[in-house]
Amino acid sequence: MKLVLDDMVIYVWEGVYPPSDDTFFLLDNLDLSGGERVLDVGTGTGILAIRCALKGCYVVGLDVSRKAVRNAKFNAKINDVDHLTCFLCCDATTPLRDGCDFDVVVMNPPYLPSTGDPRIDEPLWDGGLDGTSLIARVIDDLGRLLSENGTLYFVASSLSDLAKIMSKLEVANFDSAIVAKRRLWFEELFLIEVKKCPTSG
Ligand SMILES: C[S@@+](CC[C@H](N)C(=O)[O-])C[C@H]1O[C@@H](n2cnc3c(N)ncnc32)[C@H](O)[C@@H]1O
Repeated sequence: MKLVLDDMVIYVWEGVYPPSDDTFFLLDNLDLSGGERVLDVGTGTGILAIRCALKGCYVVGLDVSRKAVRNAKFNAKINDVDHLTCFLCCDATTPLRDGCDFDVVVMNPPYLPSTGDPRIDEPLWDGGLDGTSLIARVIDDLGRLLSENGTLYFVASSLSDLAKIMSKLEVANFDSAIVAKRRLWFEELFLIEVKKCPTSG
């Protein structure tokens, strides 16, 4: 499948997450000035990473699927942003060293609660028991990934345990807010903005 958007062409290889309502919700709300160092967790076709690179950002895209990483690299090349992007196949953010200092982290994670049926549950959308597993792991790692004034933007759904995520962010001492919402026919999407709390004194 080939998608032609305003400023980019995205090929979707079989078995790679096709850009969907949640992808476009995040894309529509991304406000970048250019020059930011961006991390895209669960990059899929690389669509978010490539949009950021087209805005002049330097982007690292991660995905657990080797095919997604190859697809994202292909898309970066045809959109002429391979010099601004780097894609890695890995589990969550495990290979990144401390002090990467990303200005922006974007994530459209798998957020659907598992059904328990292996024919349905796929890493593309299976977010574990309550839909928060990848989100929770990234929050656990966020302190060492974000620059001092950096921001995480991630998509959450009314189908996942949003209250649990917000409480985890508070306990981990991050400021968070819902900055956009979009109602779809079977769920509501939320865009959550997360920043480090300013240190007192
Ligand atoms: C909902 S898709 C989003 C893809 C793309 N960012 C978009 O918005 O179209 C979630 C992506 O997360 C990836 N993923 C799932 N579990 C992961 C993990 N543990 N570590 C890294 N990526 C993961 C999936 O392979 C999939 O590409």
